[in-house]
Amino acid sequence: MAVKTTGIEIMGIGRYLPETVVTNEDFTKIVDTSDEWITQRTGIKTRHITNGEPTYYLGAQAAKAALEDAGIKPADIDLIIVTTCTPDYYTPSTACLIQREIGAIGSMAMDINCACTGFDYGLDMARRYLLAEDGVDTVLLVASEELSKFTDYQDRASCILFGDGSAAFVLKRKKETLYASFLGADGTGAGFLAARALKSENVFRKNEKDFDMDMPASREHYLYQDGKEVYKFATKTLAFAVVNACEKAGIKPEELSAIVPHQANVRIIETAAKNLGVSMDKMVVYIDRYGNTSSASIPIAFIDAVKEGRINKGDKICFVGFGGGLTYAAVIFEY
Ligand code: UT7
Repeated sequence: MAVKTTGIEIMGIGRYLPETVVTNEDFTKIVDTSDEWITQRTGIKTRHITNGEPTYYLGAQAAKAALEDAGIKPADIDLIIVTTCTPDYYTPSTACLIQREIGAIGSMAMDINCACTGFDYGLDMARRYLLAEDGVDTVLLVASEELSKFTDYQDRASCILFGDGSAAFVLKRKKETLYASFLGADGTGAGFLAARALKSENVFRKNEKDFDMDMPASREHYLYQDGKEVYKFATKTLAFAVVNACEKAGIKPEELSAIVPHQANVRIIETAAKNLGVSMDKMVVYIDRYGNTSSASIPIAFIDAVKEGRINKGDKICFVGFGGGLTYAAVIFEY
């Protein structure tokens, strides 16, 4: 039987995609690839790419849309959590920059980086703050990613995958509802998906020891991906995370109204559906439109499904992600 607990109420949703749309055909002009290869191997047709707008700007647009949808003022927000692996600065956090943009001065503000699994982790963190009933009653959760910033456009196996975009939820506490989460990570796979930050070059440094992870050298700060290893991890963990979250929620995967997976590769999602014994109709997939937008991919897909009437209030939803870290997570809630 479904377990009732204190969970989350989604008061408002909003998303933002930069205007520029890059097609598979566009990629044939910069790398040796084809629309046929990209479509068959990934399911991607187009992705949105910024024209220089930073991550905080994308996030602020989604946040404003979510606040308007919720019908609340910036001053009503107690906590801003931003999920991103493509921040604009080491400091300040993207959350502080978004707070400044939307005028929610005074709220708590912080970033979390769990790569593509970020929105699941962020949702769970928001729920835990709300659960504490300790002064946090309204949370703004924003996923904002500008992956084009560290995408290596000389690497045909990865550059065709990624897009930019953002999405935001306004969250409140909801009593006696469906909520369960199953989160995890396996740092032994850290080198399979990585983009480096600045190296230590302080003036006092004496030792030449290289502390780099064991992975092939990538160009400067660009993203390195071992596609096959990530693919293996993803196909294994998607179903695993959903099954475990379902067990905690006291429901079976087939009882879910919709599963919104991280949008990385349609073949990964098809394998997960097969492993879970659910039809692809249950899987919310918009990868053809947006490609992989890391932590923003799940909420963007969710919002499209809501706008198109595929997801409705009262539905039992599962968000399931995997990504850099390596990380995995599934969160089940009633919309
Ligand atoms: O959110 C981050 C999570 N990331 C992921 O989930 C990525 C997971 N991995 C994948 O989705 C897939 O591994 C890729 C889409 C990245 C690659 O697909 P694949 O079916 O594993 O291809 P592959 O790496 O086995 O490459 C097959 C062939 C190779 O050629 P040869 O050696 O067989 O001659 C590649 O060089 O396809 C070639 N290839 C391409 N050909 C045309 C690789 N990229 C391309 C390309 N266009 N863009």
